[in-house]
Amino acid sequence: MNNNDLTNEIRNKVDIVDIIGERIPLVSKGKNFFGVCPFHDDTNPSMSVSREKQIYRCFSCGASGNVFTFLMDYEHKEFKEVLKDLGDRVGINTSNIKIKKKDTKYDNLYDAYLFSTKYFQNNLASSYGREARDYLSKRGITEEVIKEFEIGLSLDKKNDLTNLLINKKYDLKTLNEIGLSIDDRDIYIDRIMFPLYDTYGKIVGFSGRIYNENKQNKYINTKETSIFKKGHCLYHYHIAKDTCRVSKSVIIMEGFMDVIRASTIGIKNTVALMGTALTKEQIMLIKRLSNNVILCLDGDSPGVKASLKIGEVLQNEGLNVKVVTLPNDDDPDTFILTNGKERFQGLIDSAVNFGDYKIDSLKNNVDFNSESSLAEYINSVLQETIKINDEIRVEIILKKLAKDYNIGYNTLEKRFKELKKDTKASKIEIKKEPKKKRKDKYSLAVEQLIYYMLNNDWVVTAVENEKIIFPSNEARLLTSEVIYYYKKHGEINIADFYTYMQDKTDLLDLLNEIVSNNYKETITKDELFAYFKVIREYSMNEQIKRLEKKIKEEPDIMEQARISEQIRKLKLGE
Ligand code: CTP
Ligand code: MN
Repeated sequence: MNNNDLTNEIRNKVDIVDIIGERIPLVSKGKNFFGVCPFHDDTNPSMSVSREKQIYRCFSCGASGNVFTFLMDYEHKEFKEVLKDLGDRVGINTSNIKIKKKDTKYDNLYDAYLFSTKYFQNNLASSYGREARDYLSKRGITEEVIKEFEIGLSLDKKNDLTNLLINKKYDLKTLNEIGLSIDDRDIYIDRIMFPLYDTYGKIVGFSGRIYNENKQNKYINTKETSIFKKGHCLYHYHIAKDTCRVSKSVIIMEGFMDVIRASTIGIKNTVALMGTALTKEQIMLIKRLSNNVILCLDGDSPGVKASLKIGEVLQNEGLNVKVVTLPNDDDPDTFILTNGKERFQGLIDSAVNFGDYKIDSLKNNVDFNSESSLAEYINSVLQETIKINDEIRVEIILKKLAKDYNIGYNTLEKRFKELKKDTKASKIEIKKEPKKKRKDKYSLAVEQLIYYMLNNDWVVTAVENEKIIFPSNEARLLTSEVIYYYKKHGEINIADFYTYMQDKTDLLDLLNEIVSNNYKETITKDELFAYFKVIREYSMNEQIKRLEKKIKEEPDIMEQARISEQIRKLKLGE
């Protein structure tokens, strides 16, 4: 068996509906299953999954593919990893399958960061690194942790790394662009270097920390590049994506030192926000890790404020949010250092529901001697309580309020019900489908033709016989891929076609766009010929345009006449 057969066999042995259904809730409707698409920010079920075709497609954002592409995108894994996961699931050994490493236009960047990481690691281990090693050891960062998190050291020399990279054929312009140099000097001078990883676990930048007090700026981070957007990252995501599945929760911390510390005591289902405000992209990443979020931010007042704010956002996204409050301005790092593993685990296990946390926080700044202040407080508690989807907890809260402030339970319940009704009414919002770009009739005809080729074998043959010339390069290439695939396999299996197309990255956008259309399944011969006509008309117009341009540039009158005759014939359809 060759690679492709084995790959297709694995794909055939799993059902895409199971695999996607284990990750996002799907409901069946007619022939297909529907769920909320995890690849764009949405609450509507715009993703459809077909058991028959073993593909998914999102009518809203245009994501589409087979079980492999779904897992690669959803779990941020490379093809090889996904193939191994699924192979393990169905009992097929994948270790002999050879997969070509995909070259990307960013390989150059990844290589530069990887080289720099090794360089920083060597520095830390060398005699230059004594003071930094002392600092790390005083903070309880062991050799083992240094290795695991690939921690290093930049030197107190002007342009050591820059020169090394230039010797490796990088130019200064690139080094400046990717945040390793400034002019001809190193950006990082004498700092402890923490690599930053993308969601796949590739190094895409650094955070450099000072380790002696007489310096400014505790941390310096690599600037944003085409492969590193701070707001799209969560530190430790590439590890957490496996550990969170086992622990069924994700712990969110502020700093990467907190995450590193927690890792040393075996708690690895953690990510760090790295101080940024929570972005939409980060929320989507968190949702993929787990529905159960435990906020474990710093214990100081900015940390408490952030817990309230971030907790609210995540709760509104439908996640179950719990909050840990650390004492004495501790952060997870310092708490674990002073109190140890058991006590930290205890705090995690007894994290409180966000609703309760918020209600508790409302107590601050209430003047309980003032009637109006008290009434305001009770109203705000009720406002929070209506968000809780657990009748028992609601009753407990209302009873406690009634008792604590000596208010009739019925009065509270009545007010609670009124508030609940109000928000229900206002919650009905009409969400418009994001508008897709309007396309001209030619591109539309091209897309439909390719769509029907993928869904009906006879259309492939018809297109081939017709010798249609597609207007755009991409459409031409994609069509020839479909025809080639058809000839090789004698049929189009769209799910396997995705596997075949995997490396042809330039064509994937077009393929996704085509497949994610909600066209009907088949067409008639007449409809097909109508598409041919539209495309031919387009090619003809293009040809005429080209000739007209040529006439204008043509000095020779005889030649001009010849071209104009050509145009006349084209217009007559000869
Ligand atoms: N941060 C940053 N720049 C700063 C300060 C903080 O980018 N000047 C980011 C870092 O990514 C850091 C996070 O914000 O991990 C949290 O900051 P902070 O709580 O100050 O860092 P700690 O994790 O406590 O780091 P340390 O214990 O080393 O002081
Ligand atoms: Mn700290």
